[in-house]
Amino acid sequence: MHTKLEQARLLTTKFGQEHLLKFYHILNPSEQADLLDTILNLDFKLIESLYHRLVLNPANHFREERLEPLIPQIWDDLDPKTRQQYRDLGLKLIDKCKVAAVLVAGGQGTRLGHSGPKGTFNLGLPSQKSLFQLQAERLLNLARQTGTTIPWYIMTSPENHAATTGFFRENHYFGYPEANLFFFQQDQLPVINAAGKILLAAPGRISLGPNGNGGCFLALHRSGALTDMKKRGVEWVFLYGIDNALVRVCDPGFIGFTAANRYLSASKVVPKAAPEERVGVLCYRNGRPAIIEYTEFPEELTRQRDSQGRLLYGNANILIHLFRRDFLEDYAATGLPFHVAHKKIATIDGEGRPVNPDQPNAYKFELFLFDIFPLLTDMAALQVKREEEFAPVKNKTGADSPETARHLLFSLHRNWLQAAGVPTGLLKDRRIEISPLLSFGGEGLDPIKITTFLKENPGQEVELK
Ligand code: UD1
Repeated sequence: MHTKLEQARLLTTKFGQEHLLKFYHILNPSEQADLLDTILNLDFKLIESLYHRLVLNPANHFREERLEPLIPQIWDDLDPKTRQQYRDLGLKLIDKCKVAAVLVAGGQGTRLGHSGPKGTFNLGLPSQKSLFQLQAERLLNLARQTGTTIPWYIMTSPENHAATTGFFRENHYFGYPEANLFFFQQDQLPVINAAGKILLAAPGRISLGPNGNGGCFLALHRSGALTDMKKRGVEWVFLYGIDNALVRVCDPGFIGFTAANRYLSASKVVPKAAPEERVGVLCYRNGRPAIIEYTEFPEELTRQRDSQGRLLYGNANILIHLFRRDFLEDYAATGLPFHVAHKKIATIDGEGRPVNPDQPNAYKFELFLFDIFPLLTDMAALQVKREEEFAPVKNKTGADSPETARHLLFSLHRNWLQAAGVPTGLLKDRRIEISPLLSFGGEGLDPIKITTFLKENPGQEVELK
């Protein structure tokens, strides 16, 4: 019987990763134990095969593939009666506990430069609410409208799990009933360098990162979340990301649209702002629906336009998807393809000294959740207004930053207030935020009450709640 150390030596030698134990002798016993456990749990074979397939022999898959545009249905082109029917159906499904929300929040959010989980980020609104709180309150609004709290499943990763659950606890779950909250974790994978060597983050710590948002399906399956949904009678799964400040979580209209038309799945899209916008594109690939990430989309197709001047491949993915639960149950354990990204990742040198590279030094392998779409024969795309539903918070400054997201939120809320009949003079040059507890999508705003409140509270930054 080999000791753990002997097993780790055998494994690392077999796969040419002996350097992982180079500093073993200088670690304290608990660091030694952690390192051995990590090594014994690594899938070296998978890493080796990903290195060969995706780093050494990166084929340009799309050369041989046939891409075709997918024509979306446009929410605003539907007649008002149909839209109302869809909303009513969505609310009815929520009321009957047929809808669950799944948030993928295991990402690292390095571009934003925020050290905690992205959902804990304070957007700088008058209310000082975090992204998690905004989402919780939108769901609570639907609970109030229907009398049913939507079960909310939140995916974290090993590196942000404790901080995420701690944040919810400290904030008393934002009033969300704990029985309807379910945290589950995705897997991690090591990062490697150009020679295929796994990086060390510190002498006793392997550099690991979450395995991409596509890790959610296996994690939903393994954690028992899918079984829990089935037990509750859930039929529809609303799957979305953390960093859209305007996301209408479990939008009843979208759910009603998908259910009434008997689709297995649907995605919300917005028209791409420009050919070079860094978003995935929803189209057909070899006759199947597919989202192709901006990093992989063939450059020559990005600028093609139809006879009316619209981008042919203009369906921007905003990471808002709806799936029938039974479809996810059937396919959750199906392996999705890995993608590779070349990144700058802090590591140590041969002497154990920290290295902060200024050029990409590492390859990271990730699963994308939208790679489940080609398993469908067809799906729907529902085009919505960008200014109403998409305010990404990706970068610290500039485009897609907290500042642009705040701006989009204020201007949307100003439009809601104007439409409700609040005098424009009271809104001018003010940053007015409407609490999601007061209104989910602009409905139910009482112009008389709000007008009085805005007159009595003349400050530039105001939260209406
Ligand atoms: C994502 C979409 C992109 C879309 C854009 C819109 C994917 C793969 N890409 O790009 O097509 O146009 O949003 O804003 O969906 N996450 C995890 N675990 C991980 C990695 C990410 O849960 O291992 C989560 C993040 O927390 C976030 C979401 O996935 O909620 C998207 O994150 P990211 O991988 O950064 O994708 P984007 O580049 O933003």
